[in-house]
Amino acid sequence: MDKQNRKAIIAGNWKMNKTPTEAGFLLDDLIPQVEYANCEVVCCVPATDLAVAIAKCAGTNVHVGAQNVHFEKAGAYTGEISADMLADLGVEYVVVGHSERRQYFAETDETVNKRAKAALAAGLKPIICVGESLAQREQGVTEELVRMQVKIALGGVSAEQLKNVVIAYEPVWAIGTGRTATADQAQEVCAAIRKVVGELYGEDAARGLTVQYGGSMNAENAAELLAKPDVDGGLIGGASLKADQFAVIVDAATKG
Ligand code: PGA
Repeated sequence: MDKQNRKAIIAGNWKMNKTPTEAGFLLDDLIPQVEYANCEVVCCVPATDLAVAIAKCAGTNVHVGAQNVHFEKAGAYTGEISADMLADLGVEYVVVGHSERRQYFAETDETVNKRAKAALAAGLKPIICVGESLAQREQGVTEELVRMQVKIALGGVSAEQLKNVVIAYEPVWAIGTGRTATADQAQEVCAAIRKVVGELYGEDAARGLTVQYGGSMNAENAAELLAKPDVDGGLIGGASLKADQFAVIVDAATKG
């Protein structure tokens, strides 16, 4: 029952793909295919595609997200982009703490927390990514690890701000590997995330939280994953680069 009251969000994470010209083509293809969705549709695009994406999505039901944000407001941080810059451009969402950023760009739970708070302060909605590696899953520490990632990421986030937070459970071993978590594995960890948020903010806040699954979600497996009671949406990499596949996932969320 709770699920019906939560916002289902299907977000594409384009990663480092698509030039601005290509982004325009992809959005032209996608927008008409998802116009009747009754879930929230988001495209998290490279920084260089944000302007074209915002122009293309204006007046449509597709929302635009960035893939990273710096935590300082402004200053001598060559190459970085602040939350105010994104918000001023018209960006609504931002992916924070993706495992690729943790792995290749030295992102830590502490910087994830700083970025999430900076995003929220600027009025952006962070999609905070958490998830275990294969070794951690095999060691049986998935739940403990994800609980810790969630707790640290939300440190200093107010109950009011939590309403703008999305948490994405993305097992590292499932990202870009074609190896999806089973629907039961996704459900188990998404439920654990909701539980820890309930401990921190109370049951009502936990019931209202959108928790996504991400990791090789595609047109074939989305319906089963999205049918689970605690899986409210998806963060989709590879399959978000093909408009028709992404549209099938949006459709699955609409039904799930
Ligand atoms: P994938 O990526 O769907 O290509 O596995 C998901 C993600 O990294 O968000």
